[in-house]
Amino acid sequence: MSDVFDAGSEHEQVVFANDPATGLKAVIAIHSTALGPALGGTRFHPYATTADAVQDVLNLSRGMSYKAALAGLDLGGGKAVIIGDPATLKSEALLRAYGRHVQSLGGRYYTACDVGTFSVDMDDIARECDFVTGRTVAHGGAGDSSVLTAYGVFQGMRAAATVAWGGPSLDGRVVGVAGVGKVGHHLVRHLVEVGAQVVVSDVNAAALELVREEFSQVRVAASTEALVAAQLDVYAPCALGGAITDEVVETLSARIVCGAANNQLAHPGIEKALEERGILYAPDYCVNSGGLIQVADELEGFSFDRAQQRATGIFDTTLRVFELAAADGVPPAIAADRLAERRMREVGRLRGMWLPRA
Ligand SMILES: NC(=O)c1ccc[n+]([C@@H]2O[C@H](COP(=O)([O-])OP(=O)(O)OC[C@H]3O[C@@H](n4cnc5c(N)ncnc54)[C@H](O)[C@@H]3O)[C@@H](O)[C@H]2O)c1
Repeated sequence: MSDVFDAGSEHEQVVFANDPATGLKAVIAIHSTALGPALGGTRFHPYATTADAVQDVLNLSRGMSYKAALAGLDLGGGKAVIIGDPATLKSEALLRAYGRHVQSLGGRYYTACDVGTFSVDMDDIARECDFVTGRTVAHGGAGDSSVLTAYGVFQGMRAAATVAWGGPSLDGRVVGVAGVGKVGHHLVRHLVEVGAQVVVSDVNAAALELVREEFSQVRVAASTEALVAAQLDVYAPCALGGAITDEVVETLSARIVCGAANNQLAHPGIEKALEERGILYAPDYCVNSGGLIQVADELEGFSFDRAQQRATGIFDTTLRVFELAAADGVPPAIAADRLAERRMREVGRLRGMWLPRA
């Protein structure tokens, strides 16, 4: 990366946090606070270079602004990365040192769990910092955010079915779920409950076994490639990013793509290829915002019912995305960006109206 100011030209603030004694090297990126304090998880990952870490945190924090805006939350977008292998580097002292850096931002950035960090880590960070979500249930937190992430994806899928087939029912539809980890597993449950025929794939035999134990009717594909090539009505990528490649678009028989994974489209332009093949793509950050909704609810004192009610709104939001896509003649991924940008602009503008301090 040549220049962090060029790479993060849209970002408000990028903070490098250093504590040699504990080995902490973190980068916190605040993309936008147009709608409220930036919220996003802390990823703990052994990046090959600092430049890789910076690029990742810039991309991820930008994505959080769009996700929060489209979900109707009064939150901006931020994200943090801690550079290193969590298995060897993570310690109470490091997490608390990181917490003090987050605290120094005075509430402009709230953290949460991400790859490599867990609710118990958030409890450690919170010993030094007031701006932490994703905490354990014992500490008033929302616990595992994959519950409402899966629920939201299910709502998005019902909305996509409404556009594709004239009604939200998934009864009898063949749904391929690639990746049955935390989110995929819960999604399979929702699908089985409404009578969908579910086929799954995973690279982890234990994850597949858990699904087979709970839902004996679920079929297992030999591989994710085999799943993609199978006769499907819906394809739900719930593993890693970049799942929708040119080859996958060519191969898919599914009418709908709707899954939990972040950054599903392998490169810009894939959204057009999907449209040309008549595949309805439910934008990833639109349908997977249930987890963000769940942890954001902690800021008001967590209520599962209230958070679930808000996540139910993902059905209507996804429909609005498809409606705007049809009206503007653009793929749904572009329509989602337009709706999110519109809200950041129209609601964010109100902060320009001066009010006396409370
Ligand atoms: N957990 C959340 O609340 C949440 C919220 C928003 C988005 N997401 C995204 O959803 C996705 C799943 O998240 P998760 O929390 O369930 O993660 P997870 O790690 O629990 O599950 C991912 C699963 O995918 C499997 N996998 C990896 N490569 C695969 C491949 N090539 N084919 C099939 N399976 C493969 C893994 O073995 C694992 O079982 C991730 O992309 C994550 O970023 C999660």
